[in-house]
Amino acid sequence: MSALTASSLFTSSALRASKTTTTSSTSNKNKNKKNSSSFVVCRSQKQQQQKTSASSEKSISLLAPSSSKNECIQQIAAKSKAPPPPAATGPTPTQIAAGVFAAAAIGVTARKAMKKKAKKIVIAGAPASGKGTQCELIVKKFGITHISAGDLLRAAVAQGTDDGLKAKEFMDRGDLVPDEVVVNMVKSRLNEPDCAGGWLLDGYPRSASQAEALSSYGIEPDLFLLLDVPDEELLERVVGRRLDPVTGQIYHLKFFPPPDETVAKRLTQRSDDTEEKAQNRLKVHHANVNAVLSKYKNIMKTIDGNRQKTTVFKEIEGLIKSM
Ligand code: AP5
Repeated sequence: MSALTASSLFTSSALRASKTTTTSSTSNKNKNKKNSSSFVVCRSQKQQQQKTSASSEKSISLLAPSSSKNECIQQIAAKSKAPPPPAATGPTPTQIAAGVFAAAAIGVTARKAMKKKAKKIVIAGAPASGKGTQCELIVKKFGITHISAGDLLRAAVAQGTDDGLKAKEFMDRGDLVPDEVVVNMVKSRLNEPDCAGGWLLDGYPRSASQAEALSSYGIEPDLFLLLDVPDEELLERVVGRRLDPVTGQIYHLKFFPPPDETVAKRLTQRSDDTEEKAQNRLKVHHANVNAVLSKYKNIMKTIDGNRQKTTVFKEIEGLIKSM
């Protein structure tokens, strides 16, 4: 549910509640008129606390000259011949104040803890700039929920859903999948319970319209990481990339080779990891990236991604820790 819808629902239920309150207080007023003597305690109490109406003050002085709460209760009890209830006791003003301060302090601490926990991060960069590789390391270190737009789309393609069928032809060319498919897919994923404590969004938003859509749902990241890698390096990374279907680990034949023959034998290559498709993915990236960057410039950190993956991660780790 969007923040807007939630707040509208809240407002309308609050309105409904206030309407109900008004109706019942009106009917109480009518009842009070009929049985004014038996309601002296209520009215005198109200008068003592609020001192609002001179006419009420008169009627109270006739009916209940000493209008302390306990005395009035005892007067009514005497009238009804019932034994008086025990004198009302309650917290002293000091105790009330201490309680209010304690509750406020607990609220502030809880809010701080929640704020500290909910890390909302976007990681962006050209194809093969190392987004997935860094996400693996971030998840391992911080346990944040990782959402990759590319992975969501590949899963839809593999399942043969309507969205997957629509997405496939765009992905095969290395073009951006239309917003009508990808925007709702990402939004639904972000609304799942495991994202309540924060998220790491990989490869989304990739266009001005996707960034706008995110904002319109009230979804705003706190940190936007941009991995910066020269184009010529990217092409070499794309064609050498291999994936382990068993562990999900990302390898590179030259930069990060598999540990043994068993793993090497089961590695797969993505269908869009050819030089030709990568060229188009790169072109699409350059055509869209500036609009996205300008939207997030206040929270953007550019990281030199053309270094050892552990060195890149050290910098990212520092940034996330300082959130
Ligand atoms: P997606 O799967 O997101 O692909 P991408 O953005 O092109 O990024 P990659 O996954 O190729 O690379 P990466 O940056 O994760 O790099 P990695 O860590 O693997 O999207 C695929 C397609 O889906 C898109 O083309 C589009 O059609 C569609 N799509 C996705 N999101 C969309 C959206 N928002 N809107 C519309 N359509 C969307 O690393 C790459 C290689 O380099 C690996 O082999 C790795 O081992 C190696 N490597 C990593 N770091 C280093 C390093 N520091 N030094 C040396 N080698 C390294």
